[in-house]
Amino acid sequence: MRTESPPPIRLVDYRPPAFLVDEVYLTFELKPSATRVKAKLKVRRNGEHAEPLKFNGERLTAISVAIDGRALTQGEHAIDGEFLTIPDTPDAFTLETEVEIDPDANKALDGLYMSAGRFCTQCEAEGFRKITFWPDRPDVLSRFTVRIEADNSFARLLANGNLMETGPLPGGRHFAVWNDPFPKPCYLFALVAGELDVLEDKLVTMSGRTIDLRIYVDPGMAPRAAYAMDALKRSMKWDEDAFGREYDLDLFMIVAVRDFNFGAMENKGLNIFNSSLLLADPATATDMDFERIESVVAHEYFHNWTGDRVTCRDWFQLCLKEGLTVFRDQSFSADMRGHAVQRIKDVKALRARQFAEDQGPLAHPVRPTSYLKIDNFYTATIYEKGAEVIRMLKTLIGPDAFRAGMDLYFERWDGHATTVEEFIRCFAEVSDKDLTAFFTWYEQAGTPNVTLSSRYDEARGELTLELAQETAPTPGQPTKRPLPIPVTIGLLDGDGRTQAFLRDGQALDETVIVLDGERTTVTLTGVDERPVVSALRGFSAPVKLVSNAEARDRYILLAGDPDLFNRWEAGQELARALILGRATGQADEVGEERYAEAVGRALADQAADPAFKALLLALPSEPDLALAMNPADPAAIHDAREALRTRLALHLSDELKRLHSGLQEIGEFSPDAAGAGRRALRNAALELMAANPRSEIGELAAGHYQAAANMTDTMGGLLALTLIGGELYEKALTDFYGRWKSEPLVIDKWFAAQARDPDEGALGRVMALTAHPAFEAKNPNRLRALVSTFANFNPVRFHDPSGASYRFLADQILATDGFNPMTAARLVEPLGGWRRYKPELGALMRAELERILAAPGLSKNVFELVSRALGEKEPTQP
Ligand code: TRP
Ligand code: ZN
Repeated sequence: MRTESPPPIRLVDYRPPAFLVDEVYLTFELKPSATRVKAKLKVRRNGEHAEPLKFNGERLTAISVAIDGRALTQGEHAIDGEFLTIPDTPDAFTLETEVEIDPDANKALDGLYMSAGRFCTQCEAEGFRKITFWPDRPDVLSRFTVRIEADNSFARLLANGNLMETGPLPGGRHFAVWNDPFPKPCYLFALVAGELDVLEDKLVTMSGRTIDLRIYVDPGMAPRAAYAMDALKRSMKWDEDAFGREYDLDLFMIVAVRDFNFGAMENKGLNIFNSSLLLADPATATDMDFERIESVVAHEYFHNWTGDRVTCRDWFQLCLKEGLTVFRDQSFSADMRGHAVQRIKDVKALRARQFAEDQGPLAHPVRPTSYLKIDNFYTATIYEKGAEVIRMLKTLIGPDAFRAGMDLYFERWDGHATTVEEFIRCFAEVSDKDLTAFFTWYEQAGTPNVTLSSRYDEARGELTLELAQETAPTPGQPTKRPLPIPVTIGLLDGDGRTQAFLRDGQALDETVIVLDGERTTVTLTGVDERPVVSALRGFSAPVKLVSNAEARDRYILLAGDPDLFNRWEAGQELARALILGRATGQADEVGEERYAEAVGRALADQAADPAFKALLLALPSEPDLALAMNPADPAAIHDAREALRTRLALHLSDELKRLHSGLQEIGEFSPDAAGAGRRALRNAALELMAANPRSEIGELAAGHYQAAANMTDTMGGLLALTLIGGELYEKALTDFYGRWKSEPLVIDKWFAAQARDPDEGALGRVMALTAHPAFEAKNPNRLRALVSTFANFNPVRFHDPSGASYRFLADQILATDGFNPMTAARLVEPLGGWRRYKPELGALMRAELERILAAPGLSKNVFELVSRALGEKEPTQP
């Protein structure tokens, strides 16, 4: 075991940079295994700072270092594998360095690396230090000029900004020079070189400028970039309309690469995307892929203002760009696809990932105070909870003040690196509100529990609502302060109609109660009948709400709450109670029948959006249920959930069949929300039917699979067959592989489908697949399709009582850590929740974490997460 833990980086230790780089001229002499990088930096001492120059530099072979044209001697500088140190420098000077790097050997996919024979870069958060010596921190903003030289076979030479010059070089080589006029931190640097096809388009901005849009993809794949291009144009227009933000350069480029650690990256003017989040056509991509492409294209584009033009002072401020940009992309998707459906999907994702994180040893605030590796903090808390915090801010100060605050933020901070404090200050100024208490949302980890109890006084027509909050301790934060929590409330009557009420004499249909202390009591008057309370409408705050509402009330909400989020939520809560009841030996057969009946009525509602009905039809997921069961027993949850699914499938058998045949695809495929909604409902019906034990269902699913005219329906059929199992399933798998073996993105789906197999043989199958010729451990998409899908989406097999699946995951983490620590660390999360599980399981999970920690040569990334998961050391806490 590692005996000493590396020292953490702390927010309180922030110091401004001692040196600034105003301008840089970079020359890349590209060769796959020996690339030369020459850098000429205009450096200046920052104010009064007296420290010596200490620039980052890792995995660089230094060739030369010179100041103002004079090469430095051994004694004048030091290079130690982490830093270049120059004790004595003038206050302003030109620093010239030359290094050699080996992109071919870089399997960490961080810095400059090769993917499918092309050069590409990933510099966020700290990859630029693997390219050249540099003060690798986001508060150093520089103007970049980049000259790329490569063999002619690397036909496209791309970097940030505007293309200045291209030309031939001797020896079958050529060059291009790019200039980015906007000063930027080095994490936004990007370079791509290789053979690529391009899809081109144009957009005229709000001020009448014409922007060239280019999406670069694998040769032959340009048609598959059409949807991303469409999403890009809609995003650009939306940012003008919703935030008044116009694009700034004359050119905007996106490149798709197959080997990528995350989803996508917002490099200035040159976004780089994981190809799984860019390429789509009806034959190879599902509606969910289209939806994610739309939102990620928007996300990365929106970063141009929230991230690039205004950037982060230090990495503790990560939510400043990520939470805000997720909020922006969620708002965009809501406008594109419908607010209620989008909100439900966003909340499902938040609960599945962020709530789980917040309840375990990896819990951390939206703005952490310390870390070992910042790569580990690209989490659901920073992104998704960070977006929720912005959403609450908008609710609390109102949309007009929110927009005014954003305008002020852009005006004040354009071209600078800043902090969350400065961001919030803008909203405090424009709204004239004290947002000090609100800031606690950034500093305090954990999901608040909010309890609501209501008392109705019929004689006086008064409803008294008592709200209270409490947040359980999280690592390093034993005591919690109360947070300002906006709780949106409306009332229905016994027939499910909206019931108006008075609050402080004002007649209302809906109101926001701000719970800003430990408890608060609000009395609503003019309430004529016993009301059904619809609370936390639209999920107005990221909390767990417990109320004294009876099942009867929830059925009324499920039948007709005009707030569609709460309609859905009422159904989920009813289902959750039934499943958890059964899982703990208290099956409620009458309640289950009643639930099935109510779902049937909701399905029959002709006015309801099919996409919404598809969501209503899906029971809470097993991980979601595990969060509500203490300690969690995944096998009991699985069986109880299956029992309810079977009851629904039997009870709704005719209705489901009717949906399935009635919603058959007619006419041309459209990836829009309406088409996707119909397919979602039809496939949800099939998935539920798969729980019907009658044999003809297998034939129906096989027929669905065979007849599918698009990937959404193909996967719908395959999933149903996965749940049913047996020969038809095996046949479909063989057929699928044969049909799609030359399409990597589709083969990822083939691996993922098998990882979700709830059958007892699943682990054996998954392990065997790691030896399949198409399994590529070094490709993160492929690795995650198999390993992450199994660990995150197949709880009943992952939590096998033997512990064999935990061992398998630990082995994968260790193997991956040998070459790609960032991706290895992201596999740790499923083991992180070990304390929430039955003690027999928890002990086995813990043992695997301990085995990982004892392994020699562990990366900082994996060390940090595993040691935090074990709770032995708390490197993220002061
Ligand atoms: N900033 C990117 C985004 O959210 C994500 C990102 C962070 C990333 N670090 C990365 C992508 C490393 C790839 C590799 O838009
Ligand atoms: Zn982002």
